[in-house]
Amino acid sequence: MTRILTIFTMLGVVVLTACSGNSGTTVTSPSGNIEISFKLNDQGAPVYAIQAMGKTVIDTSSMGFDFRDQPSMAEGFQITGSTLQSFEETWTMPWGEQREVENNYNELVVHLKETEAPNRKLDIYFRAYDDGVGFRYHFPEQSGVDSVIIMDENTEFQLTGDHMAWWIPGDWDIYEHLYNTSKVSEIDAIKLRSNDNLAQTHIPENAVNTPVTMRADDGMHLSFHEANLTDYAGMTLKVVPDELTLVSELVGSDITGYKVKRALPFSTPWRSIQIGEKAGDLIESKLIVNLNEPNKLGDVSWFTPMKYVGIWWEMHLGVSTWDYEGTQDMTTFTEGNASSVKHGATTENAKRYIDFAAENNIKGLLVEGWNTGWDHWIGFEDREGVFDFITPYPDYDLEEVVRYGREKGVELIMHHETSAAPRTYDQQMDTAYALMERLGIHSVKTGYVGKIIPKGEYHHGQWMVNHYRRALEKGAAHQIAINAHEPIKATGLRRTYPNAIAREGLRGQEFNAWASDGGNPPEHLPIVAFTRMLAGPIDFTPGIFDIKLPQKPDNQVNTTLAQQLALYVVIYSPIQMAADLPQNYEGNPALQFIRDVGVDWEQTKVLNGEVGDYVTIAREERETGNWFVGGITDENERSITLSFDFLDDDAEYDAVIYRDAEDAHWDKNPTAIVIEEIDVDAGSEMTIELAEGGGFAISLLKRN
Ligand code: NOJ
Ligand code: CA
Repeated sequence: MTRILTIFTMLGVVVLTACSGNSGTTVTSPSGNIEISFKLNDQGAPVYAIQAMGKTVIDTSSMGFDFRDQPSMAEGFQITGSTLQSFEETWTMPWGEQREVENNYNELVVHLKETEAPNRKLDIYFRAYDDGVGFRYHFPEQSGVDSVIIMDENTEFQLTGDHMAWWIPGDWDIYEHLYNTSKVSEIDAIKLRSNDNLAQTHIPENAVNTPVTMRADDGMHLSFHEANLTDYAGMTLKVVPDELTLVSELVGSDITGYKVKRALPFSTPWRSIQIGEKAGDLIESKLIVNLNEPNKLGDVSWFTPMKYVGIWWEMHLGVSTWDYEGTQDMTTFTEGNASSVKHGATTENAKRYIDFAAENNIKGLLVEGWNTGWDHWIGFEDREGVFDFITPYPDYDLEEVVRYGREKGVELIMHHETSAAPRTYDQQMDTAYALMERLGIHSVKTGYVGKIIPKGEYHHGQWMVNHYRRALEKGAAHQIAINAHEPIKATGLRRTYPNAIAREGLRGQEFNAWASDGGNPPEHLPIVAFTRMLAGPIDFTPGIFDIKLPQKPDNQVNTTLAQQLALYVVIYSPIQMAADLPQNYEGNPALQFIRDVGVDWEQTKVLNGEVGDYVTIAREERETGNWFVGGITDENERSITLSFDFLDDDAEYDAVIYRDAEDAHWDKNPTAIVIEEIDVDAGSEMTIELAEGGGFAISLLKRN
């Protein structure tokens, strides 16, 4: 092995070695706990394996591609060279769950070439981190091939046991499924094909969407995902249950018939595996963002993390409508009867929400249903050219709402429901974003409900990946941050594009208002914290106080009120909604927690947790030094003992706990809450009782 060749101190890059030969090679993470080995097998096929803490966690797994009009790349390779290098840096999140992120890894690059014609070249990059691994393919420039049409990527992940898995089906459109808990050998995504609650769904294989998280019998935790999904198709993982193998299955297009088309040179997204001895390690891992490129946008201080309210829950409850005529609230779609209530987005109603926000330390207001087109939304096939992102309904004075909000210190959040007609949105993006820029509006919630038009494209195919990226890039040019619903999955691009502030991409709170299956069960969020949340910020929209939803006899929120508060800390997002109607907060002392809680963090600590059971997270607010703690449990009650050793030794705090009352229960008594001042410092320990479906929230405001 050649010793250190070059040191680039600025980037902290140390090139360790360069070698060639077919014998294979390994790369070890900085602390030595994780090792990736690569070799060519007897057929010259590239294979890799991964060891963690001395045990094999991914056994020999093959890699390759099938193309249109070209032979497959699978075997017959030789290694023409390889390099090993070390990288160390600390970068700063402009907003995030922590300020400083350490990005330390060792990287192996292997250069391959086919020994026989067409003698194509392929490079594979492997990065070993202490919290997991990433690898990607690079198609270098080469004579004879200027582009490829990928029919399939065949990346295998050979598991070493029949792990417990938390998974949603490999739906090419939507991630709004409930999580399933089963052994890998029992994964059956096909049986989940019909789902009455979803306006679009397409599950062609027995596959899962990522992140998919697993726990081995020895307690090792693994989560499979991808990072930096750029100009490529999203990856689902096909399950071969008998062999305990996962294989990449890219999202396709019925229009083109292929998965990906790219000109050379290009790199695929990173295939990532987060690895932790404890469940909480997965949440603390920064692997996914570290595998992305540094910030391309520079200063994004025009976006400020904030809490927000919205003319939103009222439509989901059927209290008001998106459309002007008053026929389309969510009840219309779920129960098939137009309820003829009233239009929600009026100037007067917006001002009512602004007044409430201004009184309660909430800085944003989302208004849905403000623009023309809603009369031709869900259920209509011909949605091209329908929504207009410039023209308000006659009872909504956009400029006046902006003016009034500014006077009160509340910024408007724009809403663009595209109804999955991306070409219509593309046509209007420039003018719509220019309007926002003129009005000083710095964020937009977008939506892609329904089947993509043109029919045959899917939300997670290459064509849509590129659409969602255009919105981010154009948005950035107008100083606009994006919170996408029915989005492309999060793959850590918020590092490169910090205007990608949050997204849905899971079953959010809204399902509790209208889902025909009774809403999100109490175990939902204790699973989400260890699955979807590993991908990036979530616009879950917490804070429902009127848990039983009197307007909806068949629906309710399936948590206690204390858990609704805990979610502001547990579920990370730089924008956090106070989702309930203002009148449901008035006079409730629990509102104080929402007033106080931070949205932008100096550091985050996962204090305990098990996937699907419970989790407790503590976060320190930037600038103030205030700490907030949130804990949630599934349908089981439990007691949790916390140590407050994360607090500053020499500081004093005004601490308030919001916990389940002794007789609280998500169904029988969800709003029974105890709010009390507590006396804690860095030396304190405390045992807290969580009710079935319950939780707790603690605010620790640092005394000056
Ligand atoms: C689905 C989104 O998830 C929801 O938040 C929004 O209210 C509707 N689409 C309308 O755009
Ligand atoms: Ca949705």
